[in-house]
Amino acid sequence: MVGSTFADSGADLQLVGIRKTFPGFTAIEELDLTIPAGSFFALLGPSGCGKTTTLRLVAGLEQVSDGRILIGGTDVTTVKAHKRPVNTVFQSYALFPHMTVLENVAFGLRRRGIGDPAGKAHEALKLVELDHLAGRKPGQLSGGQAQRVALARAVVNRPALLLLDEPLGALDLKLRRQMQLELKSVQGEVGLTFLHVTHDQEEAMTMADTVAVMNKGRIEQLGAPQELYELPRTAFVATFLGQSNLFAGEVVSSDDRLTIVQVADTRLSVPTARTHRRSGHIVIGVRPEKLFLHTSPVESDSAVDAIGPGRVLDVSFSGVSTSYLVSVPGFGEVTVFAQNLVSGPVARVGDEAWLSWNIEHGFGLEDEALPDSAIDSIDRSLGQEGAHAASASSDRAE
Ligand SMILES: Nc1ncnc2c1ncn2[C@@H]1O[C@H](COP(=O)(O)OP(=O)(O)OP(=O)(O)O)[C@@H](O)[C@H]1O
Ligand SMILES: [Mg+2]
Repeated sequence: MVGSTFADSGADLQLVGIRKTFPGFTAIEELDLTIPAGSFFALLGPSGCGKTTTLRLVAGLEQVSDGRILIGGTDVTTVKAHKRPVNTVFQSYALFPHMTVLENVAFGLRRRGIGDPAGKAHEALKLVELDHLAGRKPGQLSGGQAQRVALARAVVNRPALLLLDEPLGALDLKLRRQMQLELKSVQGEVGLTFLHVTHDQEEAMTMADTVAVMNKGRIEQLGAPQELYELPRTAFVATFLGQSNLFAGEVVSSDDRLTIVQVADTRLSVPTARTHRRSGHIVIGVRPEKLFLHTSPVESDSAVDAIGPGRVLDVSFSGVSTSYLVSVPGFGEVTVFAQNLVSGPVARVGDEAWLSWNIEHGFGLEDEALPDSAIDSIDRSLGQEGAHAASASSDRAE
């Protein structure tokens, strides 16, 4: 495979014990990753977590400090960049300004002496729906069109592995959505392996079959988008991939079915199959759209967890849904997304509110404690509603 870089199908990529240090800085602590051939894999993480560094290592533009890189089973750790069956689309997609779109796309094929470069370039341009602009110069294209040419130029080489580093970063939201769908269909049609880097969680979830969430040079969790969203393993994943309400508590009991957790003065249940911890300190969570907001008291029962009363701090109406921020003593600031089934919000700022959710929707994290920012919010909720909290807990005690 190495040497003949024109592939019929995607190759799998294996990163084994990768470490990368720059003078005075460790960008990647330890990275083990297998990306199956033909998959669309997204590497998601905040700025500076090591995404571009990972791509540069795979492309051969940077040397590993430790570990091995295998593409299609072949060790390429010491193979030079231009000999690897890899193409990269960088965020800054430099097209050759003096060549036409067609010549730009055919350039790599010509250089490597591959037959029928023009025919193949037209095919690639059709894939990104730009064949009608084949005769233009890059200066006569919009930003989105230029980005699609860059994509065609990479795809036409049939790399066994295509690396995409925030390739849609420069586009406006509408074009970005359109390109996401196009990229996904291009990948499906050509069957290559795509490794896509982004810090946009929605982009990662809509496009990829597998998402890896990276934090500080490590992968925190890897899986299908839905799996990561429904069952995040750490507080970082729970809050980086969508929003989560997290509560720190203490496990009271745990059997095969349910794990009971004491949070402030309330007992909550989490399905044992959905928790990573079954004893001691624990952080449990529930997504905002899984919560119901009530303006009169609700009680927990065998299927439903309930907390409150709290105080509505903020109401944001956004058409399809309303987002409520509710301060619940001992639980901090809890976010609720409610679909607008009636006309407008059901509660106003300052109202008393109770929250409930189906216990099947809760999850238990691997973390023992909440991140600091969440603790601040709980302190605030207790400070603000101190008197209220005291009366609420004494009511319960009776
Ligand atoms: N040549 C270098 N020398 C020293 N440190 C570097 C070098 N290249 C990258 N780094 C550091 O390594 C870390 C990871 O950088 P990287 O470019 O991989 O981040 P990223 O995840 O792609 O971030 P972004 O989303 O902002 O593009 C950063 O802290 C960065 O400052
Ligand atoms: Mg980057």
